Amino acid sequence: MNLKGQAFPDGFLWGGAVAAHQLEGGFDQGGKGLSTADVMTIGANDIPRKVTDGIDPNEFYPNHNAIDFYHRYPEDIKLFAEMGFKAFRTSIAWTRIFPNGDDEQPNESGLKFYDDLFDECLKYNIQPVITLSHFEMPYHLVQKYGGWRSRKVIDFFVKFATVVFKRYQHKVKYWMTFNEINNQTDFESSHALFTDSGILPKSNEENEKLMYQAAHYELVASAMAVKIGHEINHDFQIGCMIAMTPIYPLTSKPEDVLFAQRAMQTRFWFADVHANGFYPQWLLNHFKEQKFNLDITETDLRYLREGKVDYIGFSYYMSFTVKDTGKLEYNESYDRVKNPYVKASEWGWQVDPVGLRYALNWFNDRYHLPQFIVENGLGAIDKKTVDNQIHDEYRISYMNNHIREMKKAVLEDGVNLIGYTPWGCIDLVAASTGQMSKRYGMIYVDENDDGTGSLNRYRKDSFYWFQDVIKHNGSEIE
Ligand code: BG6
Repeated sequence: MNLKGQAFPDGFLWGGAVAAHQLEGGFDQGGKGLSTADVMTIGANDIPRKVTDGIDPNEFYPNHNAIDFYHRYPEDIKLFAEMGFKAFRTSIAWTRIFPNGDDEQPNESGLKFYDDLFDECLKYNIQPVITLSHFEMPYHLVQKYGGWRSRKVIDFFVKFATVVFKRYQHKVKYWMTFNEINNQTDFESSHALFTDSGILPKSNEENEKLMYQAAHYELVASAMAVKIGHEINHDFQIGCMIAMTPIYPLTSKPEDVLFAQRAMQTRFWFADVHANGFYPQWLLNHFKEQKFNLDITETDLRYLREGKVDYIGFSYYMSFTVKDTGKLEYNESYDRVKNPYVKASEWGWQVDPVGLRYALNWFNDRYHLPQFIVENGLGAIDKKTVDNQIHDEYRISYMNNHIREMKKAVLEDGVNLIGYTPWGCIDLVAASTGQMSKRYGMIYVDENDDGTGSLNRYRKDSFYWFQDVIKHNGSEIE
């Protein structure tokens, strides 16, 4: 099929994506409470971020001020409108609404902030697309309840979801519950459990069991929220948010293929539960074999069945590769190997545009649901010239190659794709390292890793390129 000249379906949601803690700043303003992201220091490519016990005045916390979107959002949204955005994905900081998480009443000033922010988007016909929990939760819930290791957190989350669903029911249609809920598959990595579930494992605890229990509570909370959301507004579209990294076998050796299949099952069972409303049998068998004795009740299972998601929201940055290890259990921290056919970014992320088409088809065959690519992008070091230009042709090439595969999936393979909101449409604090220098944006923010800089915004070359893509509804991509 000749792709040039063919546009994406009418109403396709082109836009950009961010998360509250990575750009808002104002961490202690408007009555906001401390969140888990507020106790994470800066790291680097090979230096993990530290999670401190409360705030240590001798440490630097990049999320505290981030890029000051809290005060500058009208200027930023104006730039998004200039690019032609139809959608803007962000999250609501739980701690702006319930500063401690277990408060009786919501914080009106936090609610008002998002009212104003969404109004500003709607003024330009930009639809807010909202994640309820994007890698942060009230720090108080971690201290008092141990994060998502506690069943009590389900009720706090559902209360938060209900308050914001009611408040913004006429402003927001597209929602997602937990960002990249399946990243904690890598439960042995330094912060996957803390980032997804607010859990700091003790030395005598079994991380795998902790992960399954926390994920179960989150999935129940998500299902309850979906059910309540639909009761509040029938038109709501509430999705899950999965970190999609297709996992390939290194060779066609049957044992490699079988192991890759199990690796996919292990990483994506979260989506099975979200979309099918029940646990896959292989996983229930695994729980039994491991004698996990998880707290899963009949009522929970009923909620899972009744709160299935409306669409699959997912991020796509890279693919993984595995080879037979002689056992069938996939351990994400150890079992990945290098794919000889794809190159990696400076941060070691395997860049694989074809994998995006594969992913779209894989989800389509498995769930038969609409899909929404809510993150995709290249983290790179950008240079600003003396006349304030940013020539980021590597980012344009990355995005072009991914949009081309996405276009094939939609136009040739018949995948039902709602939209595409590339990550970090404006430079922001990286989640994994806390750096500003790992930039994804099409808008440059003059800020250094140590927080210094003018915070001025500049349009990169990719800004004008993406503006053109949106203007022609993708028809120029070939
Ligand atoms: C996804 C997250 O994992 O990838 C974002 O949903 C994150 O929050 C993005 O920022 C890119 O990762 P990083 O670590 O480069 O910021």
